[in-house]
Amino acid sequence: LSMGQFSSQNIENILAFSQRLKPYSGRGSKLSILEGITLKPLFFEPSTRTIDRHVSAMNTMGGDYNPPFDEKTSSMEKGEPEKDTIITAAQTADILVIRHPRPYAVHKFAELIDNLKNNSAFIINCGDGPNEHPTQALLDYYTVMEELGNLDNLIWLIVGDLQYGRPVHSHMYGIPKFSNNKIIGFPVGGLGLPEEYKPNSYEEFDFDQLSKVASEIDPKSKVVLYTTRIQFEREARKRDPDYDNYDELRKKQIRDEIYREFRYQIPLGLLNALPKRTKLLHPLPRGSEISDEIFLSNNNPKVAMIEQMRYGLQVTMGYFALFSGLEEMLHEPEKYLTRRPLALQRI
Ligand code: NCD
Repeated sequence: LSMGQFSSQNIENILAFSQRLKPYSGRGSKLSILEGITLKPLFFEPSTRTIDRHVSAMNTMGGDYNPPFDEKTSSMEKGEPEKDTIITAAQTADILVIRHPRPYAVHKFAELIDNLKNNSAFIINCGDGPNEHPTQALLDYYTVMEELGNLDNLIWLIVGDLQYGRPVHSHMYGIPKFSNNKIIGFPVGGLGLPEEYKPNSYEEFDFDQLSKVASEIDPKSKVVLYTTRIQFEREARKRDPDYDNYDELRKKQIRDEIYREFRYQIPLGLLNALPKRTKLLHPLPRGSEISDEIFLSNNNPKVAMIEQMRYGLQVTMGYFALFSGLEEMLHEPEKYLTRRPLALQRI
């Protein structure tokens, strides 16, 4: 439910098993580790990557999934309460992955399910409003470990919407679990980190100070430049509580207005000026902050956003098996391989 629930040892354990699963996460690969386990995606907010990697991890690990919840075709259209929707999903699925616009809604659903008789389903928080997105933080740590070699002694420059960006909030609980990391926030347009998430020795400067602070970093440092989109939908709801009732066209206009107002971009020159061992990450989706030139650059060793996306699959496979109590099987995944990755077959 929260990055705060993990110890650094828990995180390292997940990352180590995720790494073991790397050879089995290729296209076409299939293991039988999660055979008999069923996933239900319940996304009450849009998603591209998070839903895909959970379904894909289930497929690759040999599990099953029920059709992703869709509000328009579910009985919520008939006025069924959300609670009942979650309880229903828990009758047939073993793992519920939930994303919801209300902070702590997923915690409440987990409590509800825990209190049911004969229940064995468990819940993974895939984003509870502007609060947290712990599994994104896990895959970010995996990316940093792969790309920079460790999770200690890093400088994290966190840029963009720190007020509503939920992966950022999970990072504020996660990064300090490792040693000697420095976290510096650079909010855009005053969207600073809320007090409740501030770790010790956190520093914050306005986005326009980023180049100056970056130029003062010791070139021998390892840096994570963590960028985020402006969460226009949460700002829109704050400005106008009726926002969700508007038609699609009006909502799109509001989105464009807010994106224009908070528009920012990471200049290529800034990335070039940062130490050699810098990795640019983004949970995605990106807005104006990351140009195509940066996002699609195949030969810039500082850009790791597509790798980050790809690593998500093996990290999800890893925590599914660990949370399901199947750690034993992860010691020798080869034993559970039912189909080799297609690329390997071709070789
Ligand atoms: C993020 C989210 O939904 O919190 N995306 C993701 O899951 N990778 C970031 C965002 O919406 O901006």
